[in-house]
Amino acid sequence: MCGIIGYAGKREDDSLEVLMNGLSGLEYRGYDSSGVAIANSTIEVFKREGHLSALEETLPARTVPGTVGIGHTRWSTHGEPSDRNAHPHTDCQDTVAVVHNGIIENFQSLRDDLAAAGHTFDSDTDTEVVPHLIEHELGNGASHTEAFRRAVDQLEGSYALAAVFEGDHTLYATRQESPLVVGLGEDGCYLASDVPAFIEYTDTVVYLEDGEFVQLDPSGMEVTDSQGNAVETTTDTIEWDPEDAGKSGYDHYMLKEIHEQPTAIRKCLRGRVQELEESVSIDSLSDVSEPGAVHFVACGTSYYAALYGARLFRERGIWAQAFLASEYDPGVIPVDDDTMVVGVTQSGETADTLSALRGANRAGVETIAVTNVVGSSAARACDHTLFIRAGPEIGVAATKTFASQQTALVLLSSALTGYDDPNLLRAFRKLPDQMQSILDRSRADAVAEAYRDADAYFVIGRGYTEPVAYEGALKMKEITYKHAEGFAAGELKHGPLALVTERTPVFALVSDNGMARKTIGNVKEVEARSAPVVAITDVPEMVDPYADFLLEVPKTHEWLMPILANVHLQLVAYSIANQLGRSIDMPRNLAKSVTVE
Ligand code: F6R
Repeated sequence: MCGIIGYAGKREDDSLEVLMNGLSGLEYRGYDSSGVAIANSTIEVFKREGHLSALEETLPARTVPGTVGIGHTRWSTHGEPSDRNAHPHTDCQDTVAVVHNGIIENFQSLRDDLAAAGHTFDSDTDTEVVPHLIEHELGNGASHTEAFRRAVDQLEGSYALAAVFEGDHTLYATRQESPLVVGLGEDGCYLASDVPAFIEYTDTVVYLEDGEFVQLDPSGMEVTDSQGNAVETTTDTIEWDPEDAGKSGYDHYMLKEIHEQPTAIRKCLRGRVQELEESVSIDSLSDVSEPGAVHFVACGTSYYAALYGARLFRERGIWAQAFLASEYDPGVIPVDDDTMVVGVTQSGETADTLSALRGANRAGVETIAVTNVVGSSAARACDHTLFIRAGPEIGVAATKTFASQQTALVLLSSALTGYDDPNLLRAFRKLPDQMQSILDRSRADAVAEAYRDADAYFVIGRGYTEPVAYEGALKMKEITYKHAEGFAAGELKHGPLALVTERTPVFALVSDNGMARKTIGNVKEVEARSAPVVAITDVPEMVDPYADFLLEVPKTHEWLMPILANVHLQLVAYSIANQLGRSIDMPRNLAKSVTVE
């Protein structure tokens, strides 16, 4: 939920810059406060409530000397967003500074004991117990390494932790159910919750495992297990271009990422669709056989992709259902030997999804992670992985990863069932260019101008477009802060129609899927209540008489139509939010990676 950056560098005066750059690459993980600490003969801490720009204003004009430092961008769980609750936190003597991502479940009892032993606390956070525990162990004569370990041994919960000590050029870190990755560069070593934090400095990374401890100094790293034994690590090379993690001239990451969708889809398809042989194959799943039933587990946007995926499997004759990960319990929901659980998670770090996948693992069920992040917790928790290859997504509202998830799920269902419809494979080939044509001819600004002051927005869809109706409404809520709701088109008349007025535009996804007439019937129902209608459709001639705006979708395979249609909804949500002056990349109260249940 929060973002951690650490740096043990070779040069004295670039630590602050590296830490601040790192935090800007992590701000999507939390942005209610941020801070940095640099260790030299003392520890200098700067922290501030608000976005990173607020922290920047508090920094001294001078360089802060020191080769080792840590930084943090926060999304509050314990204690309101404020200067005092911002990380890093220090002990009573300010000899150690700590940053933390996760939740320390037993912090209250630890805090009571420490307070009884004379420690004083400056914040309401669970994190602050850690520097005090370390201080206590130092008082007992422990070395920095031992004190850090002994403190961590007393913690229950989930954490990625990093600490620096005064007068020490080493950075100490560990993880338990929260991500941490080390970057090995020429000018030093980096540590972060996610790769965008240091991708401009190095693409050589080592993903830490739960329970591992790492010590970084300017010349390298040492990883040990929970018993202190040396661990042999594997080095990966990240294939993203550093430019991928920047805005490339767009006003917002979200807009950039919407425009990256044609490329993201091409990457997802690459090497997996053999059009000539009329087949789909996924290397990482070559030893997986056709399941008897599929349970999808996911949250938010990924859950809507999962709804779409479940429908694909059902259409191929395999019973499949999408579950909200937070509601999934394999102890209650029956699983058979041939059931497969598929976790759909962009970040691979969503706590609810990980918990559902771990439950499935305990129940002995075969698991697949459909994720964007190599080395993520979901990728490591599952038996198999299907990477969606969307590249880094920084905007908090998921866009390109949804398109890539849908694409990957079509591939997954095809690969596991041996389904090889040549029409589908041909349609895939055209999909990126068709998407580009929607981006090039968008009328979203005009729609936004007409309806940005509406009371609420409704989105209706049917069949494969139903999940996109939910996703379109979620996007609208997240970044416009206005009420929006998605409905199965047929459900409108069973209650929600009471909400429809001339001030509630209805976005109707009308697809040439054999059900267009029924959906147009629903469009007529809202039109009769004077609601403005924006039709997103590949049958414009059918819906034209009833629509105030027509947003056309090129003809494609029925299963791929929703992937294209969603681009219109993304662009409209973006334009409305932009015209209303919202904080698009970092909407209020939200964080990209939700690592608490
Ligand atoms: C919405 C959004 C969230 C995520 C959800 C799951 O725009 O981004 O709803 O989809 O938090 O995240 P992942 O896919 O990382 O598991």
